[in-house]
Amino acid sequence: MTGAPTSVSQVALNVFSALLEARTGQQISSYRSWRIDTALKPLMRERGLDTLDQLVALLLDGQEPRIGDQIVDALVNQETSFFRDAPVFDLVVEAVAVADGEGRRARIWCAGCSTGQEPLSLAMLFAERAETGGTMPEIVATDVSDAAIARARAGKYTQFEIQRGLPIRRMMRWFDGEGSDWFAKPDLTKLVAYRRHNLVADNPPAGPFDVVLCRNVLLYLSSATKADVFGRFAKAMRPGGTLVLGAGETVIGQTPLFEPSRRLRGFYERVAAPAPARRVAA
Ligand SMILES: C[S@@+](CC[C@H](N)C(=O)[O-])C[C@H]1O[C@@H](n2cnc3c(N)ncnc32)[C@H](O)[C@@H]1O
Repeated sequence: MTGAPTSVSQVALNVFSALLEARTGQQISSYRSWRIDTALKPLMRERGLDTLDQLVALLLDGQEPRIGDQIVDALVNQETSFFRDAPVFDLVVEAVAVADGEGRRARIWCAGCSTGQEPLSLAMLFAERAETGGTMPEIVATDVSDAAIARARAGKYTQFEIQRGLPIRRMMRWFDGEGSDWFAKPDLTKLVAYRRHNLVADNPPAGPFDVVLCRNVLLYLSSATKADVFGRFAKAMRPGGTLVLGAGETVIGQTPLFEPSRRLRGFYERVAAPAPARRVAA
């Protein structure tokens, strides 16, 4: 096998796009098609394949049931880091305060959690606050990728990953170093319940949730699929609950079920369901 770039044939592009969209709702728009080659190179190397068309053939002959999952895992964008967009986390603390005020334990759903940095950031933040009297919400974290969830459960991070967004103080406090890797301590991992979950196909984890974070996941979904996902979130949330999207994502013009929060800038609020129409006596 050569290291030369492989061109993406139209057939391969169509097959991989259809596979990714069927499994995750994610669309490979033309400006991302160049990623296919780069993303699938390690898998091709592992399988001793020279061209993407050979990978298509392997997928289509149906002899290897895992190959579809591996292709999807390679194609989907799993970019994440600890305390990504840090100010967001302080606002999540404020969103949780609503449940605190009502004397309930808040429930947070971190949807599309990738390899766990986002829910672990929340867990560290709330656990530290709990030491001075704050409450500890329940944190459920899900992702469509089995491989990402397995990595999140293992809580294992490379030196590069641990340094992205995590101050040394928190790294030493919540992680153990082993060789060049870092492992989240059991006291931290036990604060997050991980589950595989497909946003476009599966029933949501048992709610109702006070806060749903779904950041940098909906970017590549069609408008219709996004509207469907917002409907699923709305069903899983309390009226008035908070939805947190990524910086480039919005509900505006996409769904009537959420509106911009007046209290928490950049966040969205699940609107209360309209009261059922009264029957007028004849
Ligand atoms: C770019 S990462 C974002 C991770 C994290 N939320 C953050 O902002 O740092 C997107 C994640 O969404 C997941 N994802 C994509 N489509 C999904 C779907 N249909 N259901 C659940 N997760 C999905 C991917 O596997 C990936 O781990």
